[in-house]
Amino acid sequence: MEVEKVIIIDFGGQYSQLIARKIRELSIFSEIVPYFSNINKIIDEKPKAVIFSGGPASVCEKNSPSIDEKIFSCGIPILGICYGAQLIANALGGRVKKSDFREYGKVSINIKNRSTLFENLPPSFNVWMSHTDFVDKLPEGFLVTSSTSNCPISSFENRKLNIYALQFHPEVFHTDFGSDIIANFLYKIADCKKDWIISSYIDEQVKFIKETIKNDRAICALSGGVDSSVAAHLAAKAIGKQLICIFVDHGLLRKGEKEEVISTFSNNKDMLFIPVDASKLFLNKLKNITEPEEKRKIIGKLFIDTFTNEAKKLKGVKYLIQGTIYPDIVESGTLTSAKIKSHHNVGGLPDKLGFSLVEPLKLLFKDEVRIVGKELGLPSSLLNRQPFPGPGLAIRIVGHITEDRLAILRETDFILRDEISKAGLSDEIWQYFTVLPGIKTVGVMGDTRTYSELVAIRAVESVDGMTANWYKIPYNVLEKISSRIVNEVNGVNRVVLDVTSKPPATIEWE
Ligand code: XMP
Repeated sequence: MEVEKVIIIDFGGQYSQLIARKIRELSIFSEIVPYFSNINKIIDEKPKAVIFSGGPASVCEKNSPSIDEKIFSCGIPILGICYGAQLIANALGGRVKKSDFREYGKVSINIKNRSTLFENLPPSFNVWMSHTDFVDKLPEGFLVTSSTSNCPISSFENRKLNIYALQFHPEVFHTDFGSDIIANFLYKIADCKKDWIISSYIDEQVKFIKETIKNDRAICALSGGVDSSVAAHLAAKAIGKQLICIFVDHGLLRKGEKEEVISTFSNNKDMLFIPVDASKLFLNKLKNITEPEEKRKIIGKLFIDTFTNEAKKLKGVKYLIQGTIYPDIVESGTLTSAKIKSHHNVGGLPDKLGFSLVEPLKLLFKDEVRIVGKELGLPSSLLNRQPFPGPGLAIRIVGHITEDRLAILRETDFILRDEISKAGLSDEIWQYFTVLPGIKTVGVMGDTRTYSELVAIRAVESVDGMTANWYKIPYNVLEKISSRIVNEVNGVNRVVLDVTSKPPATIEWE
């Protein structure tokens, strides 16, 4: 790509993607690479700036992630964040110390020495800290640019070397003026242009798909979700009926979704569409499986097998279009961050089929995928669909997955969605669904004792699913949802609310 780029060197921080997103929101292309990447290659790519992310390690420990020091003398502006800041101090002759306590949460910083990073910002504001180690002594030639009551060096810099460091996290929502700090670094210090524009991305990808696939055929696994739908439409724009979309119905979709996918795609005359009902097969294989990772793996494998069987029936297919997006790549542990859950969207298919993989969305975040979809003319009902996990309802049923429990989950989820929509909250809550925690409790209906399933409501606000806050659904709406669920869905006698944010919980229960 011809656009300018900023490279984020990832030291395993949970917020590395947020840094990348913040930069893209400023219309600058950004990419994340692991800290052990070849530094000469990074320098050769001529990034306009390099950002060192945070990370869980301590520079005070042996064998902690480090970086080739060549990066400090190549003239590319550097911004270190948290671990990245400590790494800069440590590598250039300063001193980092372990503290007895962890500074975590919002603290107020006081700006000193008029750094360009803080240009046009107030002299004091709140930032988000999450560290145990701290910079105790600066390397020679560096200047303190802010401090807090606990942390005398909360940011520092060397203007001559173009190296800047922040102990706090400018990328998280809780830091006031965080985006302004990143913008000051990129526009004023690194001299970046605003040249990352989605419409030119579409043109580039269409051209790339055409040139890659030429007169061959490609297939695409459609889930009916946003990513695969947008990838399919982008590919259809490039190669029309050379594209065959296969929809594997694993029987783990929400109420009404299968029907919606089939009607949307069978009406699209720009591509060929094959629906496959594999629901019985999936349910069979999931019988007696209760361990979450095992469920995920079985579903992922079966999905691949079913798709493969269909694909083998087709002639002359050489390419596979996949709706992998950037967070899928990072969250699957492809980079340095710890693997939390195995996402089944990544890997597997091309190896098994011998197809070449085309992933036209792999550099995009979810909100960017929606913009692409909008520009391609996809309906907003589809684009604004809440995120839905590949393994579907299976990871919202703790314990055994049965037809009956799936039916309960579908009905309760449908009521939740209906009431959220009636309350006008659909656009406000990022993701909301019901969960069967696998607990039975005693209740009373009429004069009869019941011993039935408990249903949990999960609703979160988030930007990209990496972090999330539990959403405070108004009590009157909760009351309606709860009363409808216990009255309308057989086999449920109690409703509870999940009031946990991510971290420490994840959004899905499994
Ligand atoms: P967690 O539970 O990891 O979820 O906090 C973060 C976001 O990712 C979705 N999710 C998945 N999406 N395949 C997907 O396509 C998966 O295997 C998967 N697991 C979780 C989840 O719904 C939430 O939006």
